[in-house]
Amino acid sequence: MNQSTVSKDEAIKANIYVHAFLANAGEYNKSPHFRPENQDKVRNILLRLTSECNEKNKVIDFGCGTGFMIHLMRDLFEEVHGVDITQDMMKQVDLSSGNVVLHESLAESTPFVASIFDFATAYSFMDHLVDYRVFLQEAYRVLKTGGVFYSDLNPNRDFILAISGAEKQAGGVLNTTPIVNREIQGALHNGEYYQQNYGMDAVLLEKAEPIKTHDKGFSAVEVLEAAREIGFSDCRVEFEWFLGQAKVMHEQSRADSDKVEQYLNSVLPVSSHLFKYLRFVFVK
Ligand SMILES: C[S@@+](CC[C@H](N)C(=O)[O-])C[C@H]1O[C@@H](n2cnc3c(N)ncnc32)[C@H](O)[C@@H]1O
Repeated sequence: MNQSTVSKDEAIKANIYVHAFLANAGEYNKSPHFRPENQDKVRNILLRLTSECNEKNKVIDFGCGTGFMIHLMRDLFEEVHGVDITQDMMKQVDLSSGNVVLHESLAESTPFVASIFDFATAYSFMDHLVDYRVFLQEAYRVLKTGGVFYSDLNPNRDFILAISGAEKQAGGVLNTTPIVNREIQGALHNGEYYQQNYGMDAVLLEKAEPIKTHDKGFSAVEVLEAAREIGFSDCRVEFEWFLGQAKVMHEQSRADSDKVEQYLNSVLPVSSHLFKYLRFVFVK
């Protein structure tokens, strides 16, 4: 991992500013991961992973935000605990099921005793940290032996580097297609978009995502090594959302998108740079 130039305190303050801003503008829940096709995908992953759990008593969702994961898994566990630092996000969590408890706390140092959770999740979260290893240690601490950690929508460094390369070439002789242009915008210039359209401070958005901004995302190999060093036993990475997948799904068919995904998976790691995100599953 490269040395981040953002301090932990700066990242925390920036996260609270950015997420309160988006939540209060009614924009947060319009993020692409809330689209039905992604919710279906995550729900199926949760069903698959929880079917392997011995017990389904307590789950913890780190960086729970407005409750994206909580809403998808509150019927699967007796108790659902959400942890976040932004009150303005957490106040939008639907608590009506009666088994959800929210905690205003840093994910890296939670108030829980060790070894009490059967399952832990972190969705669209780890890139907001300055040091994901400290967080993984905390996730490991609070999980029971045999408990499962599931983290998703982690920006893939291979993809961000490929898109940065495409942007440099686009300034030269090569033309880029609309799909690539959209990703150049989304992966590299999101802050400018929010600043222009909503008046949000773009510098603070960069500070709120130190691993995406400064480390250019996660290296699958580095994260797996870190998880093994911490003590997780079974450590897996999966690659997801290939470049243009939503377009194939909507303009062609889900079957076509599945075929391309299968093919790209069959030629990993050569195709790694075509997948936007990494999914991690670790067992304590
Ligand atoms: C991109 S949002 C993801 C929210 C939710 N998991 C989702 O998928 O919609 C990231 C969340 O992490 C929270 N966060 C950032 N740094 C944190 C930290 N160190 N400890 C706990 N929560 C943090 C932010 O307040 C924000 O709600």
